[in-house]
Amino acid sequence: MTKEIAFKVNGEQRTTKTDEDRPLLDVLREDFHLTGTKYGCGEGECGACTVLVNGSPTRSCITSVGEVAGEDVLTIEGLVSGDKLHSVQESFLRHEAMQCGYCVPGHIMTAIAFTRDNPRATRSDIVDAMSEHICRCCNYSSILSAVEEAVRGEQGGRE
Ligand code: FES
Ligand code: FES
Repeated sequence: MTKEIAFKVNGEQRTTKTDEDRPLLDVLREDFHLTGTKYGCGEGECGACTVLVNGSPTRSCITSVGEVAGEDVLTIEGLVSGDKLHSVQESFLRHEAMQCGYCVPGHIMTAIAFTRDNPRATRSDIVDAMSEHICRCCNYSSILSAVEEAVRGEQGGRE
């Protein structure tokens, strides 16, 4: 059913008039032109479309826009503060945790929630947490090292 749906995106109140069953991913990319969030499998399996909804990693390909009415959505575009990248983005850059880069926004969104919630995580905890994401370039080793560095940063009291 077509409805006017309002929710916060990257700190700004946004509204769209659309079918409430439409995937959040389509609304972010097509209506709001936030194309950093990627379409991979469309079935909730690969993690490419991950955004944070009220701080929780959420697969936007299988989340309807109606489900996020009134909620707070954060996408990869919302991480930059002025010209300063988020510390997790910096870790990904330092470890060259990207080849084609397609999977990286989803990995980063999950990593941000994970490092925030698990400042004492071990390498094995990190492997478990990130195992829900697929990287077709198989750049897993660098991705895990980047997340590990981000966790150590949390331990050291960084952002
Ligand atoms: S595109 Fe959403 S999980 Fe793959
Ligand atoms: S860097 Fe290419 S899919 Fe992960």
